[in-house]
Amino acid sequence: MRLHFLSYLMLILLAAACRQATPPASDTTFAPLSHYDTQARALLAQMTLEEKIGQMIQAEQAFLQEPADIQTYYLGSILSGGNSDPAAGNSLQAWTEVYDSLQAIALRTRLGIPLLYGIDAVHGHSNVEGAVIFPHNIGLGCTRDPKLVEEVHRITAIEMRATGIHWNFAPCIAVARDERWGRTYESFSENPELVAELGAAAVRGLQHGGLRNPLAVLATAKHFAGDGGTTFGTGGPQGALLDQGDTRLDEATFRQLHVRPYLDAIRAGVGAIMVSYNSWNGVKMTGHRYMLTEVLKNELGFEGIVISDYNAIDQVHPDYKTAIELSINAGIDMAMVPTRYREFFRLLKELVEEGRVPMERIDDAVLRILRVKYAMGLMDGERAVFADRSLWAQFGSAEHRALAREAVRKSLVLLKNENRTLPLAKNLPRIHVAGLHADNLGYQCGGWTIDWQGGSGRITEGTTILEAIRKAVAPGTQVTYTEDGSGAQGASVAIAVIGERPYAEFLGDRSDLSLDPDDVAVVRRLKAAGVPVVVVLISGRPMIINDVLELADAFVAAWLPGTEGDGVADVLFGDYAPTGKLSFSWPRSMHQIPINVGDEPYEPLFPYGYGLTY
Ligand code: GLC
Repeated sequence: MRLHFLSYLMLILLAAACRQATPPASDTTFAPLSHYDTQARALLAQMTLEEKIGQMIQAEQAFLQEPADIQTYYLGSILSGGNSDPAAGNSLQAWTEVYDSLQAIALRTRLGIPLLYGIDAVHGHSNVEGAVIFPHNIGLGCTRDPKLVEEVHRITAIEMRATGIHWNFAPCIAVARDERWGRTYESFSENPELVAELGAAAVRGLQHGGLRNPLAVLATAKHFAGDGGTTFGTGGPQGALLDQGDTRLDEATFRQLHVRPYLDAIRAGVGAIMVSYNSWNGVKMTGHRYMLTEVLKNELGFEGIVISDYNAIDQVHPDYKTAIELSINAGIDMAMVPTRYREFFRLLKELVEEGRVPMERIDDAVLRILRVKYAMGLMDGERAVFADRSLWAQFGSAEHRALAREAVRKSLVLLKNENRTLPLAKNLPRIHVAGLHADNLGYQCGGWTIDWQGGSGRITEGTTILEAIRKAVAPGTQVTYTEDGSGAQGASVAIAVIGERPYAEFLGDRSDLSLDPDDVAVVRRLKAAGVPVVVVLISGRPMIINDVLELADAFVAAWLPGTEGDGVADVLFGDYAPTGKLSFSWPRSMHQIPINVGDEPYEPLFPYGYGLTY
């Protein structure tokens, strides 16, 4: 007996000693990327010029002229852009099979370096049918809840990993300063401090447990820098008003507003940064050597991958070869070249052979790419590369949807509530619902959902706001619905769900943010029926709402809530009191825009931080 007791005692003491010990030096969970330089440099030393150049190219899955090009051109990365679904269809299985099949080709190259596969899972794994779609960043900004934002992105990472895909072009940490910009909803806020806090939380969530965690993904802080600060009328493509335009600011202001969030993202360990299309005082960021190399890499010490945006290199100079020279020498490490990757490969090889791009610039770029691949465990062997299909069970799960529902609840901002119209009782005789956005899953998800520009109707799995209302009320309560608002007479209350149709990027630039006249007509019709009117606005930004606000007894800004419409009903019926606070100033008229907290004078319809509760 004595012997047993002694050995038991020893075990207890040993366990306690281990717990006390500082983690062993081998705990590389959050090691800086340069921790992997020994391995990366050893591999780099074996690489030919062609293999190095191939590592720096990210082609688009849907535009691969043939899958074998991954091997022929030693491609380092593949992306799926907003509209890039597998040929076999938009299912979890089809995505997983595409991912695995392309990785298998990469492993057949001489050095067998796996691909990094990138996608815009900007509010959930939003390209893939059945994924949970979370509120877009503008709504998350109104939660003021970094822990929630971190958890939303941790879940997003897991749903991405179910398809094998492990590189997210998120979070967007734009500081949107002019709501007329079509990407306002991708921004957490007009306030750089709030963007910095929530952007870092998103990075921690996506890269949870460290890059080696098989449930984590590589995060990308984007778009560096000044994407949300462009001057109205300087927009780039296809007549855009703001998108990809020129950000005209002195350096101190530019840093304070638009570089500021990157400090927190880098401190949170973000592994990639995507460079913005826009210019700063007339110089394209993609070719901006001072900002990409001297500031981002040297001053801020960023050790990860600097990637260009989709064909952004083309905009740097009218001659493509010169554009490549300027961009790579400025500090671009990975080139997002969706279609003309063969030409890019040839031209960059020429540039190096002609001495116009120095080999040390190529080596720095490839070192950064290899650092990330080692840090993510991709170099640990085939098992670490291919998708883990056991994660399919979590994809779109009830647990994930419950988190999204919580995010919806916390993102809603109550702007008006006369005579305690809200919360609604669940046992009213009749509730009349109206408006184009009440029963349209695509509309409530917004852009970057299934398709780049989003869509209309049942584009994926989820709960519309009308369905959520019907689920929430007592059995005896009648819920009626007309799109145009007719038939409200005699109802206990009417709910109008109105707002913007989906859009993304420059196609969302608007010079006028007035409500659609049909939406105004719906609210007028409800008012004329003589019943209390609740308005729920589905939009990617504040809009000009004055006349509808007058007619409404209660008004809720719901932003772009995503698939879990139940979160809206939770607040309408008082299961949760609204706690959201505006992350953007709400303009009184178009003449006020741009209007941001800190302006003098500052007389918005609703100020930054405004939000009522019950
Ligand atoms: C787009 C966007 C960028 C996105 C990329 C890949 O043009 O600017 O946010 O990550 O292309 O889809």
